[in-house]
Amino acid sequence: MDELSSLRQQYRELLERLERNEREFRRLGRAVWRVQEDERRRLARELHDGIGQNLTVLKHRLGQLDDALPADRVDARAALATALALCGDTLQDTRELSRLLRPPILDDLGLEAALRWLVRSQAEASGARIDLDVDSLPTLDGELQTLLFRVAQEALNNAAKHSGAAHIHVQLTTRDGGLQLRVHDDGRGCEPEQALQAGGSGLSGMRERLRLYGGVLQLRGAPGEGLRLSARVPLSPP
Ligand SMILES: Nc1ncnc2c1ncn2[C@@H]1O[C@H](COP(=O)(O)OP(=O)(O)OP(=O)(O)O)[C@@H](O)[C@H]1O
Ligand SMILES: [Mg+2]
Repeated sequence: MDELSSLRQQYRELLERLERNEREFRRLGRAVWRVQEDERRRLARELHDGIGQNLTVLKHRLGQLDDALPADRVDARAALATALALCGDTLQDTRELSRLLRPPILDDLGLEAALRWLVRSQAEASGARIDLDVDSLPTLDGELQTLLFRVAQEALNNAAKHSGAAHIHVQLTTRDGGLQLRVHDDGRGCEPEQALQAGGSGLSGMRERLRLYGGVLQLRGAPGEGLRLSARVPLSPP
């Protein structure tokens, strides 16, 4: 009997140690993501305020030069027009990159507004029709908002890059004390298990990141039938 209770005790201690390690693993994993998001936020701001501002000034100066040139300097005006166009494109790319790194709207207005922006810009870029439905949401922790935003961003990137879908439906619903984000496309689809093992870091990174917050990733679909991605995460992470 003594031996049995000692075994029970050892088993309990082992379980407690496992749970402690699991909690520590989650804590460290989330800290890594936090550092990465902070770094992205810093880079995004630097791109926008540093390079972006300089390009704005440069564009303005080129415009002034153009105004000052006599009308008969045709060659010089053509060269300036090319420089101005390049400057404008680079400024646009810089702003876009800055927003993708860390959209300020996510920090300023929250997840729903950030998803609306993401859906609009992805629809413009890919030509697909993207519908978004969002339940009325409770107040969400900042990290949870970032997590769901990153999942939606990767899912929409994948749909644009791999699916050739004409229609994508994004839904964010509250369910059983948690949140569910669904991204369904009607594109060429794939084998879910193969997609997860395909060697890309997008889906597997998404799955690991969700797991750190007690969430799960589910993929359904088949070649020719589109892909249905669902990410579920509890409102209060373990
Ligand atoms: N919406 C989709 N429709 C069809 N195939 C998809 C879709 N999403 C993912 N896949 C398939 O799953 C694979 C793995 O996706 P994953 O996001 O992990 O990697 P990736 O997009 O190829 O690269 P990365 O995300 O690292 O830039 C893709 O290469 C593609 O074959
Ligand atoms: Mg991907």
